[in-house]
Amino acid sequence: MGESQCAAGQTVLKSHSWQNAPLRAPLNMCSPAAVTRTLRLTVHHGQTLSVALDGFVSGGRRFKSGASRHVGQHFQTTIETAPEKYKTIDDLRGPSLATTVYWLFGKGYSDKSHAMQVEHKKLYGPIWRSRFGPFDVVNVASPELISQVIRQEGRYPVRTELPHWKEYRDMREQAYGLHVDKGLQWYRIRSVLNPKMLKLAEVSVYAPVIHQVVGDLLQRIERLRLRSQDHTTVPDLTAELYKFGFEGISSILFETRLGCLEEEIPKETLKFIAAANDMLTLSETVLFLPLWTRNVLPFWKQFIRAWDDLVNVAQRLIDHKLAQMDAQVLAGKQVEGMYLTYLLSCDKLTLGEVYICITELLLGGVDTTSNTLSWALYLLARDAASQDRLYREITSVCPGRQQPRSEDLSRMPYLKAVIKETLRMYPVVPGNGRLTVDNDVVVDNYWFPKKTQFHLCHYAASHDEGEFVDAERFRPERWLRGDPESYQHHPYSSIPFGVGVRACVGKRVAELEMHFALSRLMQHYEIQPEDGAPTTEPKTRTLLIPSKPINLRFLPRA
Ligand code: HEM
Repeated sequence: MGESQCAAGQTVLKSHSWQNAPLRAPLNMCSPAAVTRTLRLTVHHGQTLSVALDGFVSGGRRFKSGASRHVGQHFQTTIETAPEKYKTIDDLRGPSLATTVYWLFGKGYSDKSHAMQVEHKKLYGPIWRSRFGPFDVVNVASPELISQVIRQEGRYPVRTELPHWKEYRDMREQAYGLHVDKGLQWYRIRSVLNPKMLKLAEVSVYAPVIHQVVGDLLQRIERLRLRSQDHTTVPDLTAELYKFGFEGISSILFETRLGCLEEEIPKETLKFIAAANDMLTLSETVLFLPLWTRNVLPFWKQFIRAWDDLVNVAQRLIDHKLAQMDAQVLAGKQVEGMYLTYLLSCDKLTLGEVYICITELLLGGVDTTSNTLSWALYLLARDAASQDRLYREITSVCPGRQQPRSEDLSRMPYLKAVIKETLRMYPVVPGNGRLTVDNDVVVDNYWFPKKTQFHLCHYAASHDEGEFVDAERFRPERWLRGDPESYQHHPYSSIPFGVGVRACVGKRVAELEMHFALSRLMQHYEIQPEDGAPTTEPKTRTLLIPSKPINLRFLPRA
């Protein structure tokens, strides 16, 4: 079986042999490049720590960099000082179990964990410990400390253990996929997914299909606003953008249109949307509850059902594509396609892995872009000057409502700054995780053994007045090079997609979708809040989302 690139960057299938592939990939299916690279990385020099920078200083202690080797962005460096010289997790301050329960349920922070980050940082400083039942977490909430953790994350970083996801996969004898697989297996999968997701030139191939979906979004917005009482207001914009996000990412992943922006949404799509919502909501509940409750409470069964629905929908769409490809090959035709065709034909993933990876990409790619776009429009609607500056930039690069091409985006720095600033203020992933697996680490003069769970408090870091002047104000200018309002930020002060090898695989696709959608919405409409509409606060439901529906007025531009 083989796969090659046609001129347009599309994948052209030469032959097919994916059927009968084992469900979970054996190690020998790793790409040779991944294996070689990994073997090179496993060379150690005595007792090592991977630390942030050459000659990096942690808590006043300097690490010798003489024995270090550059490994990607990490440095393997010999530590000069014995662990016992450092403070330990037991020296960290932080809320007890009772205090945490009081914060969550007494003070009402259960859906405001982003705000709790900020308050706890004020109380305990930029590093503190939280304990909650079996969970013991070290929180870091300054760019410097976040960078120290990430730079020691090891070769194959792990966010957190997901034993209940793994249990489900084992139960159904499915492949593990990106979130459950670890180490070399995770790296092997990422190496296959990355090229056509993260390389700018490759991602540009998706521009036409994204534009089609944006066109449907514009039509839907027009229908909804005309249907409203004042012929301008679109109610619950996030729900509409969710459909856009779903259609956008699935048109890339499945190479087919699902019709989410039509009047009547297909049943299968509604099923997937409901299942994604259920799975994410139940995931935390199931993890917290003791095993015996599974026979008494409905949550575990619901969690399984939600996963079944998710995987089944993705599987049916993939099988449909496979049947099409088969028919074309049998008819002696060349099979052309994009992401799914590439995954199915590259011979590096089993069919079982393709099912799970596509499901995971879909799960990661919908709420994230849709919520970010909702916040961007919400912020622009309340800041006429920024909206005007954005509109002027877009019309100067693409006059007469020309569709922006990928290359036009490089001449739209303000557009990019608007998205960056939106993600700084409302990072859709407000907190991330790192579980140290390879090494003991030192962060801020504390020594942490392997298996320490860190919580990276991105929201608190990107709302810190010390990092961002007027942190609560929407000021896209702060990201513009050469603008009087711009200034140098710590590189880890706002990292909404994460950084390093485990960072978001969908970053480029998400940016392309958001840049195209926002620029074309601006070309067509001036956006305003409803008269007297109060501010909308965010809330956390794993992701940072608006706490109530965002209704905006869309006034057609001349
Ligand atoms: C505004 C848009 C998005 C934001 C802010 C975002 C943010 C993130 C963050 C913070 C992570 C964790 C990174 C880390 O641990 O260092 C992540 C992981 C991930 N994202 Fe995104 N994401 C976005 C859009 C997307 C899209 C469009 C897709 C699908 C195409 C996607 C798929 C994934 C997947 C599969 C992972 C797990 C990667 C791994 O574990 O190897 N994301 N994302």
